[in-house]
Amino acid sequence: MKVGVYSIFVYLHVFSAILSIGPLFVLMPIIRRLRKANPDAESAYLSIIRAIIRMVMHAGHMLVFTGTVLLIIGPWLWYTSWVVMTLAIMLLSAVFLAKGFTNVLKNFHQAADKHQVLSRLMTTSWMYIGLLLIMLWLMVQKPVIW
Ligand code: HEM
Repeated sequence: MKVGVYSIFVYLHVFSAILSIGPLFVLMPIIRRLRKANPDAESAYLSIIRAIIRMVMHAGHMLVFTGTVLLIIGPWLWYTSWVVMTLAIMLLSAVFLAKGFTNVLKNFHQAADKHQVLSRLMTTSWMYIGLLLIMLWLMVQKPVIW
């Protein structure tokens, strides 16, 4: 059995995809609990949320890094339709959603309406999950659109 550099990077790429999607599903029940939490529990839940978001962001960076390496060393061209679409969605989520996550967490303690902040965090998380699932489909199915 021959294990090449390419297959090691595919493995690392899939592993980082798991780490970027999985923890987001833990985020939802914690946000729901945070809504009803007293001040002591509130800071405990917030630190769990921060840890989850940090993990998802690191995994996202690893996903982009390993994906880029796969493009450089592998047979796929960067302008293949499924690659271009993934790159476009990735850029979109980095610009709009990643910012949304950090802003929400930074401003939580000062926020007058915490329920509104948490609703935004919930919406951002669902949108991010949606975009990740679309990218997952593009990666696995590799549809040739043009
Ligand atoms: C900068 C963004 C990305 C680039 C450049 C990229 C690039 C690639 C490349 C070149 C492959 C190898 C395809 C093969 O040889 O079969 C691959 C596989 C894969 N990617 Fe990505 N990727 C990116 C983002 C993502 C994201 C966001 C996800 C998941 C949400 C993802 C999930 C996967 C999976 C599951 C595979 C394995 C598919 C298979 O073996 O059929 N990738 N990616």
